[in-house]
Amino acid sequence: MIVKATKENISLAIEKLNAAELVALPTETVYGLAADATNDIAVGKIYRAKFRPLYNPLIVHVAEINMAQQFCMIDDLSLYLMEKFWPGPLSLVVPLKKNHKLSSKALAGLNSVALRCPRGIFKEIISEFKRPLVAPSANKSGSISTTNAIAVAQSLKDNVKLILDGGSCSLGIESTIVKISGTSLEILRHGALSCETLQECGIDIISKNHEVIEAPGMLSSHYAPNALLRMNATEIYPKEALLAFGKQSCKNQEAALYSLNLSVKGDLEEAAHNLFNYMHILDQENIKTIAVQPIPNKSLGIAINDRLKRASFR
Ligand code: TXA
Ligand code: MG
Repeated sequence: MIVKATKENISLAIEKLNAAELVALPTETVYGLAADATNDIAVGKIYRAKFRPLYNPLIVHVAEINMAQQFCMIDDLSLYLMEKFWPGPLSLVVPLKKNHKLSSKALAGLNSVALRCPRGIFKEIISEFKRPLVAPSANKSGSISTTNAIAVAQSLKDNVKLILDGGSCSLGIESTIVKISGTSLEILRHGALSCETLQECGIDIISKNHEVIEAPGMLSSHYAPNALLRMNATEIYPKEALLAFGKQSCKNQEAALYSLNLSVKGDLEEAAHNLFNYMHILDQENIKTIAVQPIPNKSLGIAINDRLKRASFR
């Protein structure tokens, strides 16, 4: 059931979460599938609803730094980043305290946890709930993330009973995941908080190439539409859809069965906002391949190219 994110429906969502049920809800990055992070039964339902492998840990969402400090150890640099970027699209991996009350299912056996404090409705819900909530992206495991309520319903089908509709997500791409190692910052997943913005903090950045599986869940094939996906396309072949960017030319462009432009003016923020929604729209039955024009590999383009690369991997 899709319901508007009104005050009454937010209360209903909190009731469901208290009863160990799942609720899909909007965040500033993508839609999330939320559950009580301290309840094994609730967390187990997430893995079943998404067909997610049990070895892939979940991000734990908190309403403020204090809530996080109850169950994990936060070093000075991580604390600095939390104070600077929370609430917002930054997840930090930090060590757990011994007596934490988080569901072990959410952690997939790791002794660290990825933490995020989201903006907007989701933050309000966690505050009222008074406990942390886990929330992976609200999509079937391995397929395209969702940025509106209808896409959530199409991806998760009957496996989610309540979807709070808060319109389309403002950023459209998942949070950036980082880990502090000594005095350096390691980027585990590029995302909505750009590398450049992190660099401005003056911390050394180690950006691992994603060939290495950083977290158990950093599988190569991800974000995959049913159609194949071809990056850096400069030409259209039969039965293809075109995902364009800017005003670049493309040979045989008129042969594309469908065509959408991520950002006509070549703006990477706008492209990130549209990415998953346009991939959903172009993923039609008669489309063999979605051809994507080159996206500059800088700023949010790094996160966009990361998603496209994983989506094209078969
Ligand atoms: O923007 C987001 O981060 C969204 C919204 C809903 O908050 N959530 C999201 O969750 O993208 P998910 O589960 O789709 O992706 C989380 C990633 C997974 O690749 C997982 O392996 C990694 O975070 N992860 C979780 N815990 C980790 C940990 N302790 N160490 C390293 N990576 C971790
Ligand atoms: Mg995901």
